[in-house]
Amino acid sequence: MESTVFLDGEYLPSDQARISVEDRGFLFGDAVYEVSPAYRGTFFRLDRHLDRMRRGLGALQIDWDVAELPGIHEGLLARNGLDAAEVSIVYLQVTRGVAPRTHHFPPGPVRPTVFGYAKEFLRPARERWEEGWAAITVPDQRWARADLKTTCLLPNVLAQEAARRSDVADAVLVRDGFALEGAHNNLFAVFGDTVVTHPASNQILHGITREFVLELARGAGMPVEERPIPLEELSGADEIFFTGTTTEIRPTVELDGLPVGEGRVGPVARALFDAFLAGVEQARRGQG
Ligand code: PDD
Repeated sequence: MESTVFLDGEYLPSDQARISVEDRGFLFGDAVYEVSPAYRGTFFRLDRHLDRMRRGLGALQIDWDVAELPGIHEGLLARNGLDAAEVSIVYLQVTRGVAPRTHHFPPGPVRPTVFGYAKEFLRPARERWEEGWAAITVPDQRWARADLKTTCLLPNVLAQEAARRSDVADAVLVRDGFALEGAHNNLFAVFGDTVVTHPASNQILHGITREFVLELARGAGMPVEERPIPLEELSGADEIFFTGTTTEIRPTVELDGLPVGEGRVGPVARALFDAFLAGVEQARRGQG
């Protein structure tokens, strides 16, 4: 079925959506984006996605009112028949707009380009989840503002391609000997019963799922530490897992070809995934 996308105030078939060759998103990656999940038609923590986009737009000095975001998200779900889908995601990108190419901002006022689409997210079967996945480590080659969700994702693209070529699910980005996050998700490690993840600094994206999982861990009484994880320490972790909107919680049972812990999905990842599934269901019913 042809999907319906949103472009500059209009909903239209994806094959009819066109942007200018002078769009600064196309030329420079001069843009921010969000990916927000909905569970059977109800968005999960959309306010956080909206806040993060507002922060990004502010940092890039792009003038767009995020108050439009929830309406576009609802419109995309409805027009693509996704209201009943178990999980769907909406992608929304705002670029600085169309102007003759100059590195500095265009001198006159420019209308930001706003593009969005929605699609179903297929969660792996629980039996598959229980087998876990593999990951590799790669050098982090990103700029110093990894906390901004810009579309300048080439280092992330190269990292994920390295993972694909190694036939693994995820790439751990390593900088100065510390394991920061994944190419498109946040990284958690478990040492004994302690859940550890990198602090929400400029070196990682402040994931909405990361924040939720930290809340779940603390709520379950697990010891939690937000601190940098040396790669050497990560190699000896009892458990490793990734979190993100298009990842939910994905356990890693093999890192760089070696087993993580006992090489099986661990009890902490399992308990947190169960709590995650219960938490999104509770939020959907309006109790969360
Ligand atoms: N990626 N870290 C990076 C580098 C990311 O790109 C993402 C999200 C996350 C997780 O953030 P959240 O939990 O808010 O989804 C962490 C999105 C899904 C993407 O680029 O498609």
